[in-house]
Amino acid sequence: MINAKIIGVGGYVPEKIYDNAYMESIVDTSDEWIIRRTGIKERHISADNEYTTDMAVKASEKAIKNAGISPEEIDLVILGTVTPDYFTPACACVVQKAIGAENAAAFDYNAACSGFVTGITIAKQFIVSGTYKNVLVVCADTLSKATDYEDRATCVLFGDAAGAAIVSASEDGSGIIETELGSDGDLAITALAYRNNDEEIEKRVSHKKETIWMAGQAVMKFAVKAMADASRRVIDKAGLTWDDIALVIPHQANYRIVDSAIKRMGITNDKVYLTLEKYGNTSASCIPVALSEAVEKGMIKKGDKIVLVGFGGGLTWGAAVLEW
Ligand code: COA
Repeated sequence: MINAKIIGVGGYVPEKIYDNAYMESIVDTSDEWIIRRTGIKERHISADNEYTTDMAVKASEKAIKNAGISPEEIDLVILGTVTPDYFTPACACVVQKAIGAENAAAFDYNAACSGFVTGITIAKQFIVSGTYKNVLVVCADTLSKATDYEDRATCVLFGDAAGAAIVSASEDGSGIIETELGSDGDLAITALAYRNNDEEIEKRVSHKKETIWMAGQAVMKFAVKAMADASRRVIDKAGLTWDDIALVIPHQANYRIVDSAIKRMGITNDKVYLTLEKYGNTSASCIPVALSEAVEKGMIKKGDKIVLVGFGGGLTWGAAVLEW
């Protein structure tokens, strides 16, 4: 039976760094508050002329190299983002051309920070149906370009990054074992496009409608339950228990969310890989960037079972259990 398997991953973070001292210089906050309430020390920020597709191309090229395939072998490029360069063309089309994936179809999707699990779930459907053999899933966001740098409750959280994976047909039974996606159409995290909504604009400290606003406490409550419960359900569906899981890579939004979620899962910190301190919340790329680092560090061996779990705007959530 054909399954879908991640055969190569790659991550990219831009050079520029906003550390907590810089955040202290622009809003009324402190290094101590940010670390105690979020666990974040630094975020990487795209250059003024660096956009989502520029970062996505860099992460994709690394994933393709690590997978050992050629760009021409890619059948589909899908890109998850909430900060596209254009309304049209899709960022995926820009990436498809830039990397030379000349035989690939391409489209964007938006599941906010749940984008990577959503992307590998989409890829799996195309692969197990026999439609495609190699799918490039790339998640990239220049959140700094949509951040309200007058709002201390959100601006300390976000950074920019891109993460990519090649998902390919596998016949050895390993790969993406189970996934679950979910949504509760709650507008607890918003950034407006064409829509005008005075009430929404009023919520923003800067009154810039395209910036991100969120109900932090409500999102936190939602996230802990959604991540813990969705992880348990995919593990159950796979016929596994937490003892079978070698590593968990959660969405990296806030250390307190991760800590409460892993307590609810009943697992220990040593099973969880975090990049939060260095990069902050980079939306859907958090998971593939962390996955790529964990692979580079040799933390994931062939045959290991791992859980990827995220939540984000929508509100959305997604969990996956994989055999590496
Ligand atoms: N520095 C100092 N004080 C800050 C601050 C900052 N950067 N941000 C908020 N505060 C203040 C608030 O103004 C509030 O002050 P008040 O009591 O005088 O009104 C106080 O800290 C507590 O605010 P609260 O919102 O209750 O804090 P919190 O413990 O919930 O932490 C978040 C705020 C945003 C860090 C937290 O809610 C969070 O991480 N939520 C989830 C966000 C998330 O994951 N979003 C992405 C989804 S993909």
